Amino acid sequence: MVTCSAPGKVILFGEHAVVYGKPAIAVAVDRRLYCTVEKNNSDITEVNGYPINETHHGYILEAMKALGVEETLSIKTSSHLQSGAGLGSSAAVTIAALGALHGFMGETPSEELIARQGFDIECGVQGSASPIDTSTSTHGGAVILSNRKIKNFLWHIEKEGTFWNIHEGFVPNLNIVVGYTGVHAATPPLVGKVSNFYNRNTFARDIVDEIGEVVEAGRSALERGDLVQVGNLMDRNHKLLKILGVSHPKLDSLVKVSRKYSYGAKLTGAGGGGSMIAITDDPDKVSEAISKRGGIPFTFEPAETGFRYEKSFKYTQ
Ligand code: MEV
Repeated sequence: MVTCSAPGKVILFGEHAVVYGKPAIAVAVDRRLYCTVEKNNSDITEVNGYPINETHHGYILEAMKALGVEETLSIKTSSHLQSGAGLGSSAAVTIAALGALHGFMGETPSEELIARQGFDIECGVQGSASPIDTSTSTHGGAVILSNRKIKNFLWHIEKEGTFWNIHEGFVPNLNIVVGYTGVHAATPPLVGKVSNFYNRNTFARDIVDEIGEVVEAGRSALERGDLVQVGNLMDRNHKLLKILGVSHPKLDSLVKVSRKYSYGAKLTGAGGGGSMIAITDDPDKVSEAISKRGGIPFTFEPAETGFRYEKSFKYTQ
């Protein structure tokens, strides 16, 4: 029996534009997804007691195919990440399942291998993707994607002419409050919506370019510890994402109310519902404001480790 876990993430800057090779910055959050794999005695693989199927277990099924697993397995998952909340639950299930399956096969995979396989699986299941979620879930800490090589380079990933350098990032001690709208939003339709806009409209391509510039400026503001500038750039990033059509009235409302007590706020992840983030010196005030507007706030510590093997993990249900 092998158990592997992987963290979720929040994107500080650059979602959607990163699919087109623009830079992005994400931080792994200390909410993890656990996946346990063991041999079963049945003639079908089961996930949480149900026969494995593409609709509910697409990422796990693809991970089994990618690794050529032929045995039938009993797979269990347990998640502290709400799915459809923009917090990287799909990447976390993909990375934890890959880790557990490699471990079950007696292999010790490198981070780079897991990140590459995870990215391929996300692309396959979602239609298109960038490596930001899967690389952050694999490596942990802060992760920066850039088309240029900068310091603390980890590996690069390329797909159909789009190229990303993956780096370990530095993020100063930040109080990040997450506000979940309660609106479940799947990533693929939102990525598809931006793709239609991008392919048909030069204006959309200009917005994507501008997001790329905001991310670069955000990276240097984070390095300088200039939170006022970081906040201004987050506000700008949110506006640009709104123009791309991936915000939601509840996101705009939580972003607006959080800004009163924050350096800046923006949606995080694919949008369309899901969650927003705010950077603040007063997390209690921001959390209270989010709750009053009907959102679900939480704060988190960055997850320093990405995917990891768990010696003992007890499933509660
Ligand atoms: C989703 O967390 C981030 C997106 O940019 C999609 C991706 O990069 O794969 C919307």
